[in-house]
Amino acid sequence: MGKVRIASRSELDQPGCRVYQVDGHTLALFQTEAGLFAVDNRCPHMGFPLDRGSVKDGILTCHWHHARFDLATGGAFDLFADDVPAYPVFVEGEEVFVDLSPTRDPERYSRKRLRDGLEQNLRLVVAKAVINLVQPEIPATAVAPFTIGLTFGSQYRAGGWAMGQTINTCMLNLLPHLQTVDRPVALYQGLTAVARDTEGMAPRFAIEPLPGPTVDFLTLKRWFRQFVEVRDGEGAERCLATAIQAGADAGHIGEMLFAAATDHRYLTIGHVADFTNKALEALDQVGWEHASTVLPSLLPSYVNATRMEERNEWRHPIDLAVILQIAFEKIPAALDAGRAKNGAVYPLARSAPTLLSDNPQAIVDLLLHMLADGVAPQDLAQHVSYAAGRRIVHFHTANEFGDWDTVLHTFTYANAIQQGLRRVGSPELLRGVFDAALSVYLDRFLNIPAAPLPEVGPTGDEPAALLTAFSQLLDERYQVNQAGRLVAQFLSNGGQAEALMATIGHALLREDPDFHTIQTVETAFSQYRLLQGQPEAEHMLIAAARYLAAHAPTPRAQNQTYQIALRLHRGEKVFEG
Ligand code: FES
Repeated sequence: MGKVRIASRSELDQPGCRVYQVDGHTLALFQTEAGLFAVDNRCPHMGFPLDRGSVKDGILTCHWHHARFDLATGGAFDLFADDVPAYPVFVEGEEVFVDLSPTRDPERYSRKRLRDGLEQNLRLVVAKAVINLVQPEIPATAVAPFTIGLTFGSQYRAGGWAMGQTINTCMLNLLPHLQTVDRPVALYQGLTAVARDTEGMAPRFAIEPLPGPTVDFLTLKRWFRQFVEVRDGEGAERCLATAIQAGADAGHIGEMLFAAATDHRYLTIGHVADFTNKALEALDQVGWEHASTVLPSLLPSYVNATRMEERNEWRHPIDLAVILQIAFEKIPAALDAGRAKNGAVYPLARSAPTLLSDNPQAIVDLLLHMLADGVAPQDLAQHVSYAAGRRIVHFHTANEFGDWDTVLHTFTYANAIQQGLRRVGSPELLRGVFDAALSVYLDRFLNIPAAPLPEVGPTGDEPAALLTAFSQLLDERYQVNQAGRLVAQFLSNGGQAEALMATIGHALLREDPDFHTIQTVETAFSQYRLLQGQPEAEHMLIAAARYLAAHAPTPRAQNQTYQIALRLHRGEKVFEG
């Protein structure tokens, strides 16, 4: 599309603005002392008609939120608004023409606007960029915008990897479980979390690898752990950067990180291991060429970590740190004995009573016994993750509200260690399984009295109707037990877990979900997948539903912003009257 006639010269006898419909465009043609200017008549912020704006000194002001634009180029002076498309105007004889040729590459412009949104923490801008960049039916199209957020978050937060990056990665992990229409919403929620987390923060300056000949990996790993031990972030980062530059593979890098992440007990209520797992999962999706940008951002969490053996509850009245230290010394022998047994299979129902008991010595003894009996490390971790999930299933609503976080932290930590063991078969990481098991033990009073597992049998209710009832239920506050029961009823009536996860995901995304609720749902879905085919799998979905119900409804402001962006994208009117 090029030059198009818009008006006769004789029509433009007075200064001001006139609106023309030309080849599918609605143009505002301004006649000023400086000449004729044509712009799209829709304010690129939220669609207000720009012919109702004001022009002064070459600046067009929209009167809804007062965004200002250079009338000649359309460039916005306020970053919350996009540039308005501006079209060159020509007068030839008695006729006035505009050139409607596109002036920008839409994809490139959307990537730039995504960065603007991240830099300025503008969620409407992020939402618009995501809608333009992602094709919901092709989940792979989410990777490019996710990567922009991942690398941005790694570079622009001196405090390193935190909630925003974790939420962003959780959201990417959730995509396969979601309805098509919800996939961009998830990405938007993740990217806006990065924007919030980096707002006002100092950037992080990367430390270069060691110069000269490469130090061998085992030395770098040993040095790395020593530097983390004495909380020396610079030394630790240089070791990590050197290992990455030397081409250490994902397994070795994971081994190095997880060894340090389990050198002390349950670091920062599990966040260090969880952040590490999420960073590695993110790299799996975007490519390990981003490792040198992303992974060093983890180190502040390592060197500033709270070591739980320094906390009273881990030392008194029972010294759990001592119980664990003795157990750790027995792990090599247990592994040796287990190798000869060739992979024993333990049902979850057999380990759960002890793992949920009030006897920490019996718990670590069981874990050692299972290892010696041939249970593989990652399978052992599965038993502990399941027990941690059961704490959420049995969490009683009489507990203080903040204690939902306590059971969630153990659950995400157990899952992170399990995922780590699936990636790295290191005996060092096995210590995390024992730590997680004793954190499950410490959470025992949050199950007293225990909320019962919903006991339901098949009824005549249609599964689809139960899903609708579930969504409606979460419009009311704190429907925890009812939500768990509806999930159990849905599954008992033959409902498909995939449909249930999509419904839970949708219910999550319509809220202003907090960090912990996102973590719980993502972890529960991940655990469901690992347990799929076993009767205990559905307990993970009950856990997700209960936790979400405890934290809903919220004002739902974030989703409202996304819906505005979607309406604007469709060309609908947001401003009426
Ligand atoms: S500034 Fe124009 S619609 Fe908001």
